[in-house]
Amino acid sequence: MTQHRDDERVREVRIDALAFGGDYNPDQWSEETWHEDIRLMKEAGVTMVSLPIFSWPQLEPEPGVYDWGWLDRVLDLLHAAGIRIDLATATATPPSWLLRAHPEMGPWDAEGRRLEFGSRQTYCPSSPIWRENVARMTRAMAERYGEHPGLAMWHISNEYGDHVSRCWCSESSRHFRRWLADRYGDLDGLNEAWGVNVWGQRYTSWDHIEVPRTAPGPINPTQLLDFERFSSDAMLELFQLEIDVLREVTPDIAVTTNFMSMFRDLDYWDFAAREDIVTDDAYPEPADPASHVGAALNYGLMRSLKGGRPWLLLESSASATSWRDVNVPKAPGKIRVESLQAVAHGSDSVMFFQWRQARYGQEKFHSSMLGHRGERSRSFQETKALGNELKRLEQVRGTRVRSRVALVVDWDSWWGSSAVESLPSQRLQWADQARAWHRAMHTLGHAVDAVRAAGPFEEYDVVVVPNLYIADQAQADAMRAFVENGGHVVVGPFSGVVDATEKVHEGGAPGPLRDLLGIEVDEQWPLADGVVERAFYDGDTIDVPCWAEWIEADADVEVRGVHASGVLEGRPAITRRTVGSGSAWYVSTMLEPEGMLTVFRDVLRSAGLPARRHVDVDAEAVTRTDGTTDYTFLLNHGTAPVAFALPASGVDLLTGADAAGVVELGGYGAAVIASPHAASVPFISLTAPNE
Ligand code: GAL
Repeated sequence: MTQHRDDERVREVRIDALAFGGDYNPDQWSEETWHEDIRLMKEAGVTMVSLPIFSWPQLEPEPGVYDWGWLDRVLDLLHAAGIRIDLATATATPPSWLLRAHPEMGPWDAEGRRLEFGSRQTYCPSSPIWRENVARMTRAMAERYGEHPGLAMWHISNEYGDHVSRCWCSESSRHFRRWLADRYGDLDGLNEAWGVNVWGQRYTSWDHIEVPRTAPGPINPTQLLDFERFSSDAMLELFQLEIDVLREVTPDIAVTTNFMSMFRDLDYWDFAAREDIVTDDAYPEPADPASHVGAALNYGLMRSLKGGRPWLLLESSASATSWRDVNVPKAPGKIRVESLQAVAHGSDSVMFFQWRQARYGQEKFHSSMLGHRGERSRSFQETKALGNELKRLEQVRGTRVRSRVALVVDWDSWWGSSAVESLPSQRLQWADQARAWHRAMHTLGHAVDAVRAAGPFEEYDVVVVPNLYIADQAQADAMRAFVENGGHVVVGPFSGVVDATEKVHEGGAPGPLRDLLGIEVDEQWPLADGVVERAFYDGDTIDVPCWAEWIEADADVEVRGVHASGVLEGRPAITRRTVGSGSAWYVSTMLEPEGMLTVFRDVLRSAGLPARRHVDVDAEAVTRTDGTTDYTFLLNHGTAPVAFALPASGVDLLTGADAAGVVELGGYGAAVIASPHAASVPFISLTAPNE
């Protein structure tokens, strides 16, 4: 399947500017409108657009009958205007004629219902008919446009798994069996892995195995977990199939598929390894005043998926979305600061869904760069100003984000804590834990990278592991080596519990991490809903909601936090152990945001890293560098003024003004300070309003 899996060559996107623009759907408009589009795109500073993402039926109206004319004309117009093209393979959604001719290629849900045509992505990722047609369409696109001078990169499919990431049809069952046979060899291997003696589930024939459709009660956890892995892999095969065609026809053109930020259903580490550049679609909730914190985590993941290389923000919204229950618009100025945040975190682009706001269809209320009022719309005025402002940041393109802290992102543990039905508590969820831990580091002033559970960790001082439910020896060994060499690892609750087949490690949690952490978990101790216990931490009292553990600590372990109420009163809650020249921490509880800050301040202090004394979650500072110049983005995500204390003077690229000492930013304000490269990662503290 994967002739290019080990292809380490990374093709550059063919664009010599920060990419600015959006999804373009000219087939929803008259040709006359296209000319106006081009004029306004130039005015707005557009450098790249993405198309024709959902246009398969317009390009192949009948099987084997192509209509390329309109796309030829649009691409030529764009190219003549100097606008680069993120060219979609047009395989995001099947034409109706394909599905009607082959109804078996449609997706099924877990209840065994076939999903109808009438939306998008009506396909089963495992369907041979779908795959055959995808390869055919991709080849047709590549052969027709592979040499087009405007082509910047290939945009494969669109947001894999947005609507259908798992399929429960009989073809999926057949594919699942093949995947299981590959993994376990024979039926004995599968029976052993799935622990089938529990509840009488022994299989005597491969044909008896199905995808986990709705069953009378909780389903075998290993079956559920394997279905998550299989489903991610099935989509990955689909991706690889297109990559293989494109590599064959256009070996020098970069390929990508647009991700959906921290998306549970697909293991993006695997996807990113196959493509040339990571691209992301980001829709922070405008109604949530802290949505930029989640965005920082998502962007940290995006830049880390390919080892710190710049990525592209391919979609965002100029104001409101239309798929939430209530779609709140973005206040004036918010588009700018949110867009600059993506650039701060390593994006070499700011792009939107979509260029021109639709007048019909499912997304007509979704904001666009060019709103229904055309050039008079606020979104056009604001995005145009942004597009022109971005030209001042050209030197930032290609630079990398500097970070001392990384957070372990592990899809297996994410699936384990969310797909499996029988757990001590459903309140401890991987994604919530990751967000809470990231939020604390963000608040204390650190840009956080993402890293796999087995590393590499060497670039960092501190690695936080919010939850690693499924852990193996190789991961534990990598963490241990990091700590012995002076690194600091913080492991969160319910980690090292099971192995890859969902079997509890010998002796219980934290399994392979036991030697490093120096603790054992006697019992998981989830708290009833609404119960909040307390712990003492270094003279402070912190709240413990939802989750605790009865742990036993070795004699050489320092107990930093102690339970101060409930059955566990007096027992260790948070521990630290010196190993080699580093330290290994275990946080056995869930914590409220304040408590997280208390603990992480202590972690940072003992790792020799700074932490903000005065905190304001709205005030973000991130530094990119090319090794000669540091570019420090100062961002105010709130409406109240904030004041940043600069460690070195420089020039604000957005205004051209000198910047030194304290930089004050008003609501939604931003500055990008260029200063000589500093040996250690610049740390930007905040000045309290009354200081
Ligand atoms: C994305 C999708 C776009 C558009 C957008 C609206 O998920 O890729 O096609 O639907 O959302 O927010």
